[in-house]
Amino acid sequence: MTGKYPNTRMRRTRATTWSRALHRENLLTPTDLIWPLFVTEGSGVEDPVASLPGVSRWSVDGIVARAKEAVDLGIPVIALFPNTPPEKRSDKGEEAHNPDNLMCRAIKAIKDACGEEIGVLTDVALDPYTSHGQDGLLNDAGYVLNDDTVAALVDQAINQAEAGADIIAPSDMMDGRIHAIRMALEMGRHPNVQIMSYAAKYASAFYGPFRDAVGSGDLLKGDKKTYQMDPANSDEALREVELDIAEGADSVMVKPGLAYLDIIYRVKQQFGVPVFAYQVSGEYAMIEAAEAAGIGDRNALLMEKLIAFKRAGCSGVLTYHAPVAARLLNG
Ligand code: PBG
Repeated sequence: MTGKYPNTRMRRTRATTWSRALHRENLLTPTDLIWPLFVTEGSGVEDPVASLPGVSRWSVDGIVARAKEAVDLGIPVIALFPNTPPEKRSDKGEEAHNPDNLMCRAIKAIKDACGEEIGVLTDVALDPYTSHGQDGLLNDAGYVLNDDTVAALVDQAINQAEAGADIIAPSDMMDGRIHAIRMALEMGRHPNVQIMSYAAKYASAFYGPFRDAVGSGDLLKGDKKTYQMDPANSDEALREVELDIAEGADSVMVKPGLAYLDIIYRVKQQFGVPVFAYQVSGEYAMIEAAEAAGIGDRNALLMEKLIAFKRAGCSGVLTYHAPVAARLLNG
């Protein structure tokens, strides 16, 4: 209830720093952040991603150092993505099932070094391993086959869980994969491995720099519109979320982030489940481009966007700016 002026002056509570702090409705802390990292072969390697200024691909030793950095900054989870060497990519993405692949080596090294001090989230989808850059298995017409792909994703997820992954995050948008992965985790004695499903993932133009970072950009022909969602739709996102929760997801993700705040809000209102936003590579690149062009302050732009996710109802945000944001928040 709001009274009439001058009984009510909305500016009264905004007049001082302490009062603004007292009346702040939403809070961002480093524990809201998930830091996505790119892994590459070799040792002592830091390979900058040209389209993501400030982001590098790290060899496993560097990834372990980043994990320790995250612990020091109070970031609870890191997300891993591999840049698979071209010679290990294939039509069916078999490298995804190799227990000694780059991802598994990185997971093990982090768990050996940091134990329960940090959670490791791993992406499940075949695109970092396929020679065509699609997330699944293709038929002769180039269509991504649903059920064959789900079987491959189950193997990939179990491979990651065996290596020590804490949160399995399927980003492929196949139908039925959450149920299939959940059953396999139960049967494989991994009852406490979480699933954070990329439940509402849109066919977006904001993923370009990521595809550079994992090396699938040049390989990909066409688009992913037969499995990722149409940006025009939101009722459909609620159906996707409802299905994934029923199939055994512990939390759901909306991706990309800022252009889809309405989806985050609707999901949180309707289901009350933990919702995460992925502030994707193109969103990171736009903030950096604004800073480089002198048309905006990186830190201010970043913090305003991150609090918007909290306001919309997010439990947390995947962002390449996680260490920058955590440093700002830690003062
Ligand atoms: C692949 C995957 C993508 C991203 C995360 N997992 C790209 C895609 O679907 O083509 C995008 C992340 C980003 O842009 O930061 N399954």
